[in-house]
Amino acid sequence: MTISLRLLVLCALSSTVFSQCDDNGVVYASGDKWIRNNHFLVTCRNGMIQTLKCVTDSGHLLDVGSKTFVEQGYEYTCSHEAEENLNTNSCPTFADFSDDIFKDRFAICCISRRFKGCVDVNGDIIKHGYFIIGNRSLKYCRLHANQRQARIEPKGCFNGTVNDDINDEDLHIKKYAVWREGDIEYRCGDDGVHIQRCFPKELKNKAVWAGTAWIQDDGQVKTCGKIN
Ligand SMILES: *[C@@H]1O[C@H](CO)[C@@H](O)[C@H](O)[C@H]1NC(C)=O
Ligand SMILES: *[C@@H]1O[C@H](CO)[C@@H](O)[C@H](O)[C@H]1NC(C)=O
Repeated sequence: MTISLRLLVLCALSSTVFSQCDDNGVVYASGDKWIRNNHFLVTCRNGMIQTLKCVTDSGHLLDVGSKTFVEQGYEYTCSHEAEENLNTNSCPTFADFSDDIFKDRFAICCISRRFKGCVDVNGDIIKHGYFIIGNRSLKYCRLHANQRQARIEPKGCFNGTVNDDINDEDLHIKKYAVWREGDIEYRCGDDGVHIQRCFPKELKNKAVWAGTAWIQDDGQVKTCGKIN
């Protein structure tokens, strides 16, 4: 007999804002770890429940993607569910909100088996309207009336902070717009706002492209933009 433990991969989100996870009415703080459905060691990351390991009946921890493990006649498989196989028909009969499915930046409700909204940089679900996915990249989440179809539209960039109103169009920047703030030139590209050029005083305000590094007269090493 084979018991297959299938894991659903939740979308990986980068975020600097910490938010809690609600697992069936129990609230966990970001970073908390707990056992879920007896067989999964999970953690709360940015408001999303993420599976870390599978747990066998005797408490043995299995890495996701590890070889099958046999214990007391049971063969355990701990694997990511392939994204192509995401199917609302695999939602449990008595689904709750913790069974929501995530694909790319879409959230699908397992109870109604309909789109629920889009997932923003903080892991929050936006039902309809503007949201940000990182690097101040601005998107618009649009659900069809029947909620069986959803679309994320690119809307350029958001030139505000978390305290600003995302619907404030004065803070919306068109894609490929270029502007200067002090000695830095920014550009709104396909994946948000990035530094395009710098005008360092040390280099007599001569423009250098992002990706440039230089040594100042005092020996300090400077770079223009974030160099990965
Ligand atoms: C973005 O905001 C900064 C600071 O408020 C401002 O100086 C700049 O002009 C804005 N850029 C655009 C393209 O509106
Ligand atoms: C933010 O910018 C980095 C560097 O260009 C890029 O790798 C990353 O995908 C961007 N993030 C988003 C959410 O677009």
